[in-house]
Amino acid sequence: MAARASSTGASAENLMRGLFPGARLIVAANRAPYRQAAGLHGEPRWERPAGGLTAALDPLMQRFGGVWVAAQPGSAQELSVPPEEPRYQVEVLGIHPEVYRAYYSGYANSGLWPLCHNLVERAHFRPSDWIAYRQVNRLFAERIAEVARPEDIVFLHDYQLAMVPGYLRGLGYSGPIAHFWHIPWPPTVVLRLLPERRLLLQGLLEADWLGFQTEDSVDAFASAARKELGARVLREADGIRLLYQGRMTSLAAVPISIDAARVEEIARAAVTKERIEKFRAHLGLEDSALLLGVDRLDYTKGIPARLDGFARMLARYPSLQGKVQFLQIGVPSRREIPDYRRLAAAVRRRAQDINRRYGKPGWRPVRLIERNLRLDQLVALYRIADIAVVSSLYDGLNLVAKEYVAARVDNGGALCLSETAGAYQELRDAFPLSPLSPERIAEGLARALFASEEERTRRMTALRAAVARNTIDTWLGRVVQGLRSAVPQLSGENATPV
Ligand code: UDP
Ligand code: G6P
Repeated sequence: MAARASSTGASAENLMRGLFPGARLIVAANRAPYRQAAGLHGEPRWERPAGGLTAALDPLMQRFGGVWVAAQPGSAQELSVPPEEPRYQVEVLGIHPEVYRAYYSGYANSGLWPLCHNLVERAHFRPSDWIAYRQVNRLFAERIAEVARPEDIVFLHDYQLAMVPGYLRGLGYSGPIAHFWHIPWPPTVVLRLLPERRLLLQGLLEADWLGFQTEDSVDAFASAARKELGARVLREADGIRLLYQGRMTSLAAVPISIDAARVEEIARAAVTKERIEKFRAHLGLEDSALLLGVDRLDYTKGIPARLDGFARMLARYPSLQGKVQFLQIGVPSRREIPDYRRLAAAVRRRAQDINRRYGKPGWRPVRLIERNLRLDQLVALYRIADIAVVSSLYDGLNLVAKEYVAARVDNGGALCLSETAGAYQELRDAFPLSPLSPERIAEGLARALFASEEERTRRMTALRAAVARNTIDTWLGRVVQGLRSAVPQLSGENATPV
């Protein structure tokens, strides 16, 4: 199903080479896609973090090459990755641990992250964290300015690096800059709780092109730039442009995606079939259905209400007891932050309570695995899950939803998807979930579970077509095209029409 082509039919590679001849991709994102740690006996051990940003961009970097600038507390590292067959470079900035904590656990993840997900009571903005945030953003800009040539594409990512475009311009960098915001952009009434909102908006507006996951985020950003900075909003045939202090910035809703071809390849592999049999036997799935959740342990993902919803369903349909089980993969995340530790404890408690209340010998209703699984392991689980449950309160996109669909090469399974996850905008044939209320979640899950075979197949077929229409290559093609029309000054001798 998955084609490596953009919306125009041209491959992302042709678009890159045609529109930006000789350009390298210089990606900057807080998180590096690989980490080299020490094993039990001091031997080097490679780890891959869970998270949509690294999962989506690594396959592109593997194909196109280039440099990825990231940060970590402690010492700097230079890595050639993937370790088994290096195709690109990762330059990890080493940041003083105290500064990193204030930037990452503080401003980025106790401030911007909850605010952008509209969870206003969780958001804290401390002046000292803001100083660290700017400091780290400046270090990113300095390193990028050393690495990037004017003909390269500087592609910045997410809420951790909002000030980098402004700092880069301040350092005299004049090449094209794209910035993709992976999480929701909040409505202006919420953004106003952010003391430094104007500086953040100004920093971002130094990019040529700003990408968001949804139209809602584009509209909210344009509205904030107009109301908070007085930027002019120009609505044009190919999207929105903002004019601020003589500088033009293009905005676009370009939902990110997955390497669908790779997921399908794994789904069809012989080794996956073996793994499926092993997992089935291990989970005791002979005559019971499997519901699956795969998330970082993050409070935006709505995991407690989801488990409560599952419990309500068991109470309401006693015939399901002993016949269904919920497997929740909960990857430990941001454990330095108390809200995250509390969430992990709450999820653990929920699982234990449900098992105590409903479990019987030979049947454990909820299994919680607090580990980071590899994609090939996840794909095997996707293949055996009768229902994938994504019930985020808010989510920029949610790649797990797309991975599940791509893995269902058999057109089987059912996706229950929160209407407030960005992915729902593209995956309207999912069974919708209203994520706040356990009663509604119970209804949504039961609806998917009791749907006819025909309805499930019809929905999955439509979902698969939606994922095939927008893969990670389509996405990059759209980014490159958007950036190219945002920098007309580059036109002429270099670029060739594609
Ligand atoms: N993931 C993983 N191992 C796990 C659980 C998740 O590698 O045990 C990956 C998953 O395959 C997906 C990403 O983490 O690509 C999660 O992305 P998503 O957009 O769903 O959520 P995020 O974590 O970025 O908020
Ligand atoms: C989300 C964010 C990413 C982040 C990822 C994992 O996808 O949008 O920027 O990398 O979560 O979170 P972490 O804090 O572990 O990098």
